[in-house]
Amino acid sequence: MARANGKIVLLGEHAVVYGVPAIAAGIERGVEARAELSPTSTLRIGQRSALPDDDSDLGRGFKALLEALGAPPVAVEATLELPPGSGLGASAALGVAIARAVISAAGQDSDTARVLSATAAWEGIYHGNPSGVDAAAAASDGCIWFERGAGMQPLALARDLILAIGLAGPPASTKAMVESVARLRERRPAVVNKALEGIRALVKNARLCLESGDMPGLGSLMNYNQMLLSGLFLSTEGIESCCALARDAGALGAKLTGAGGGGAVIALCDGDFEPILAVWREAGIECFGSRVRAQRVPA
Ligand code: MEV
Repeated sequence: MARANGKIVLLGEHAVVYGVPAIAAGIERGVEARAELSPTSTLRIGQRSALPDDDSDLGRGFKALLEALGAPPVAVEATLELPPGSGLGASAALGVAIARAVISAAGQDSDTARVLSATAAWEGIYHGNPSGVDAAAAASDGCIWFERGAGMQPLALARDLILAIGLAGPPASTKAMVESVARLRERRPAVVNKALEGIRALVKNARLCLESGDMPGLGSLMNYNQMLLSGLFLSTEGIESCCALARDAGALGAKLTGAGGGGAVIALCDGDFEPILAVWREAGIECFGSRVRAQRVPA
């Protein structure tokens, strides 16, 4: 059996598509996958199933992943523990877990680079232009610094990150949201490029906060990142009110995570996620807590 994490993007989503670094982390909820050699390849995810020759996104993604791995025919079954289209990396987690399961069923050596390139082939079908940050977070434990082209680097956190994660809106398509930023950038390059450079500065400062344990500083940077994302038309009323509820209940910072346009909000909590979760539950927002552990990074 193989597993992969879901993910949150702490800062830098969308800008990462244009080469700005992002900070992301794997979360405990993710995907479990099993694979066994079989006369023909099949994929089942909950109630959905696909064959690599299907004319469906699922079938095409599966085919691209199997071709990238050069795998023999396999029957794969995956269980998704995350709501799809919520910005929590369900699609990347599926790609990583399925790639790991297939590699293990084929008796091949699993190395992260192979898993990530198979996941990139899978994600390419759904997202069009994925930066790779979701897949990198799905494949790693803890917090990472990610730059398109340069890949990921684990970050040494001075303190655990305690996060409340709330489902603020309906599912949204990452592909559609990434394309909407691309269209806006074509129409108003100066405005969008200025926002991207602003996000770059926030991400760099957030790294310093994480490494020194300055959680109030990190929370403020998340709030600024939310303002810039909202200026790119990625926020919604649901996201704004979910952030406001969290801040009023004592969160150090709150923002959308992932593609926006709906989906999830993350709130950085001061020691305990329960007070934020309680307020969200009262407002009818589905939510859960997550802890990203401070980890040592090998010198
Ligand atoms: C989605 O989690 C993150 C985006 O920046 C898309 C990507 O980087 O591929 C919106």
